[in-house]
Amino acid sequence: MNVVDAVHARLSVRQFLPTPVSEDLLKSILTDASRSPSGGNVQPWRIYVVSGDSMTKMREFLATQPPVEEPEYDIYPKSITEPYRTNRFTIGEQMYATLGIAREDKAGRLRQFANNNDFFGAPAALFCYFDRQMGAPQWSDLGMFLQTFMLLAVENGLDTCAQEYWSVRHKAVSSFVGAPDNEMMFCGMAIGYADKTAPINSLKSERMPLDQWATFI
Ligand SMILES: Cc1cc2nc3c(=O)[nH]c(=O)nc-3n(C[C@H](O)[C@H](O)[C@H](O)COP(=O)(O)O)c2cc1C
Repeated sequence: MNVVDAVHARLSVRQFLPTPVSEDLLKSILTDASRSPSGGNVQPWRIYVVSGDSMTKMREFLATQPPVEEPEYDIYPKSITEPYRTNRFTIGEQMYATLGIAREDKAGRLRQFANNNDFFGAPAALFCYFDRQMGAPQWSDLGMFLQTFMLLAVENGLDTCAQEYWSVRHKAVSSFVGAPDNEMMFCGMAIGYADKTAPINSLKSERMPLDQWATFI
């Protein structure tokens, strides 16, 4: 598979099959993903992987924990401006449209949102942490690592959905995976094989045209 094919094939999958993911495959993809660049080669990513029986145990554990916690960072700017606001709004509307959930159906929207909590049915997940001494440049290194992981996942027939959602359950997650206090969670990621028959997985998100975000001098 060419890189460009993987880039275009990757998308956020929000309904997975229960088919298990081999831990050896995850180790191999993570090892390759660690070829991602990072400023000063600091390699700030700290990854916790949950799969197989641990995933069952984690679901059971999460069910005993508070459903919402104070997040450690703002997922979006508090008063996000245009065009970002519309981009964010549009993907939400398009997602609910694939499921036939109307704008006024608040309960239906909440139910779909709550599927984050079940990793959209995925049999495996990772959680991306970093040492609290790190700053914005190292957060961007995490992004590079995560995208490299997601592209390699595509090459290996796997699907993913990054999940900032877990930032509102960071204490529960940290407690389960055993992350020390000096580490902070950036996001989780559901990993598995897409249910290709699920309408939500037909969502192809839009991108703004080049001339709206790139300036050639
Ligand atoms: C760091 C990060 C966190 C995300 N968190 C969530 C999440 O919690 N739940 C979710 O459904 N999608 C989440 N997404 C997926 C985005 O909504 C998605 O990437 C975006 O809409 C573009 O769609 P695509 O991934 O299908 O190209 C996240 C993506 C990234 C990069």
